[in-house]
Amino acid sequence: MEKNIDWSSLGFGYMKTDFRYVSNYKNGKWDEGQIITDENVVVNESACVLQYAQTCFEGLKAYRTKDNKVVCFRPDLNAKRMEDTAKRLEMPPFPADKFLDAVKKVVNANIDWVPPYGSGASLYIRPYMFGSDAVMGVKPATEYQFRIFVSPVGPYFKGGIKPITLRIPDFDRAAPRGTGHVKAGLNYAMSLHAIVDAHAKGYNENMYLDSKTRTKIEETGGANIIFVTENNEVVTPKSDSILPSITRRSLMYVADKYLGLKATEREIYLEELGDFKECALCGTAAVLSPVGKISDHGKDIILPSGLDKPGEVTQKLYDTLRGIQLGEIKAPEGWIFEIN
Ligand code: PLP
Ligand code: COI
Repeated sequence: MEKNIDWSSLGFGYMKTDFRYVSNYKNGKWDEGQIITDENVVVNESACVLQYAQTCFEGLKAYRTKDNKVVCFRPDLNAKRMEDTAKRLEMPPFPADKFLDAVKKVVNANIDWVPPYGSGASLYIRPYMFGSDAVMGVKPATEYQFRIFVSPVGPYFKGGIKPITLRIPDFDRAAPRGTGHVKAGLNYAMSLHAIVDAHAKGYNENMYLDSKTRTKIEETGGANIIFVTENNEVVTPKSDSILPSITRRSLMYVADKYLGLKATEREIYLEELGDFKECALCGTAAVLSPVGKISDHGKDIILPSGLDKPGEVTQKLYDTLRGIQLGEIKAPEGWIFEIN
């Protein structure tokens, strides 16, 4: 039955829906998995997740397309990234085929929560897993739980596509041989102080630098970054300590193959910031959020695209990506995963 929700006024927040998916790992194997109604998780007080943050997650979205199908965007890449993250955290990977099956089941169970086509909202899907049995010494758990919940969401940044402001923080996000390239909960725990501090000072997000030299641009707390040069080349930071964003990989392909623009992944230096004409954050939650201003310790860089609207290339990238996700523009082979 259709839900009575004002879809177009949704922000990016948790809303309890009817069903979630859960699977448990015990004695060396994952169980069958099932759809349940209870949104509460009960674990031992000494569970590895509670003491040593042995947890990771993913984020993807389901959309209602122009012809009223429900689809997901490249969920195979989330499944693969979650396997990579699990291995880095000494957790048993949740197999990719089971991951895709679980996404299908949980979205279908909550199908009435998928916002209508044209509303601007989507159904955010949050797979996650954690070490659930008790540990005392620092070591991985032996039992794990994998869950997926879903929640209808609107834009990640209030104000929709109005350009946001970033600041270069004095905090680092990821160490060169650390966990920045995987989606570990711990990466987000250590970004909380930096984001609270950024918000208190009037900035929307932190633009982190590489922690070794603090001369190169990495990413923000919850999204990758793209820049547009004077020659309309789309560039994005190359680094081993940033999350390999599925949105970014898709946008680079779209820039090249749909828009005929040069798209390059390379090291980007802080001192280059003044040379770009556009900048935007990209990710599942952020989609493509234009940046208007970057503040570096009292020195403000206003992007030539300005503080009121996205730059021209950003807008084209956004329109093409959204068009592909919503079934308005033909998608590359394998990008669209049908749910129903
Ligand atoms: N970088 C970080 C730190 C993130 O949390 C996310 C969100 O998932 C991204 C980048 C964007 O990745 P994706 O496009 O795969 O959602
Ligand atoms: C996502 O974009 O899916 C994320 O996980 C980012 C998070 C900060 C909301």
